[in-house]
Amino acid sequence: MPNLVDIYRVDNFNDTFALGHYARVLDALDRRVGHLVALKVMRAEHLSADGDIRWEYRAFANEADLLTKLADNPYVVDLLDCGYLSNTQEFPTDGELKTFQRDVLGFVQAMPDYAGRGWRPYLALQNLPRTNNLLYLMKPNQAGSRWRLPSEEGLALALQFAEILRAAHIKHIVYLDHKLEHVYWDGTQLHIIDFNSSRQLDPHNGSDRQFYRMDIHNLCVGILYPIFTGLSPLKTTLRPQPGNITDAEARYRDITQLDFGIEPTLSGALKELLQAGAAMEIDHIEDFISALQQVASLHGWDFPQHYTSPASRDARSQMRAGLTRLRRGQADLREARDLFREAAIQDGITEDLEAELRRLVKAVNDMLNNRVIP
Ligand SMILES: Nc1ncnc2c1ncn2[C@@H]1O[C@H](COP(=O)(O)OP(=O)(O)O)[C@@H](O)[C@H]1O
Ligand SMILES: [Mg+2]
Repeated sequence: MPNLVDIYRVDNFNDTFALGHYARVLDALDRRVGHLVALKVMRAEHLSADGDIRWEYRAFANEADLLTKLADNPYVVDLLDCGYLSNTQEFPTDGELKTFQRDVLGFVQAMPDYAGRGWRPYLALQNLPRTNNLLYLMKPNQAGSRWRLPSEEGLALALQFAEILRAAHIKHIVYLDHKLEHVYWDGTQLHIIDFNSSRQLDPHNGSDRQFYRMDIHNLCVGILYPIFTGLSPLKTTLRPQPGNITDAEARYRDITQLDFGIEPTLSGALKELLQAGAAMEIDHIEDFISALQQVASLHGWDFPQHYTSPASRDARSQMRAGLTRLRRGQADLREARDLFREAAIQDGITEDLEAELRRLVKAVNDMLNNRVIP
């Protein structure tokens, strides 16, 4: 059997800003193909002394299974490999490794065997850049500040997320674990991670039907409300919310009323739609999507069933061009700041130069703290 180091070069933890309940996640290089992956390894604390398989262990089989069923969806993170690891250190540096690659059935069937030996399950996932993680982007770094996505981007994100739920619900899968740390956004394309707490429902079980409505509710409350307001629906600051499957299902249960007071210019039709989702009034994702398209048409989007005036369509194109430049400008500001910062810590520079570089770093940071897009 190969050693971990033969297959993966393990670099560092990449989850420190938003720890999960089930796993630690590491940046690693898959030596077989030469690309970076996110190595999601079950926390050793979920192993049991008697080889019993805890539900946290089974959650890895559940996640691998659901990721495979949704593999053709462009917005769902890709599963690249799965297997078991003999090493139980928090930061694994070596030890035997059994890789099943994309043979999820083999991975699931071998679970009792490897659990009995005290090995841990791992998944290797497409590595998504932390700088696109929405919690990382939107968490304010000074009291009283907040960021929201521009409506154009928020609508694009909402439509893509709704497409994931449509593809999932057709297969009787519900996501449930809606929170910003599970969402990656680069301005145009969405990726979501973490299907540990998601569920494959039984289509013949009537009481499972409530979960579709809950999935739409969790999308409106847990993702769309914060991206359009910069606020947590839980009335706390935006912060990570680690939790298991029970927490995921209970997290937003009592939130049926959304307060948009802080964003008076937000589209009325959009507020109404999110409020209807929060109030558990939307049973089917198809209904949500067609209502969302109607809202988007008010923002200059084109859909066959909804009228958009040519002027709105043109204004939208121009706004998109402006947003692209804003993103480019902010990326340039960050690059400039990093250049100043790196120069400032070089050995052997004069005090005069260091003081000037630090002044520039601070001035650019002040600008970035007032940026337009998260
Ligand atoms: N594919 C990925 N690419 C980059 N970072 C990831 C990826 N998957 C997870 N992470 C990081 O690890 C953290 C925990 O991962 P998650 O899948 O949510 O674990 P858990 O099931 O324990 O909640 C995430 O919040 C994120 O910071
Ligand atoms: Mg998680």
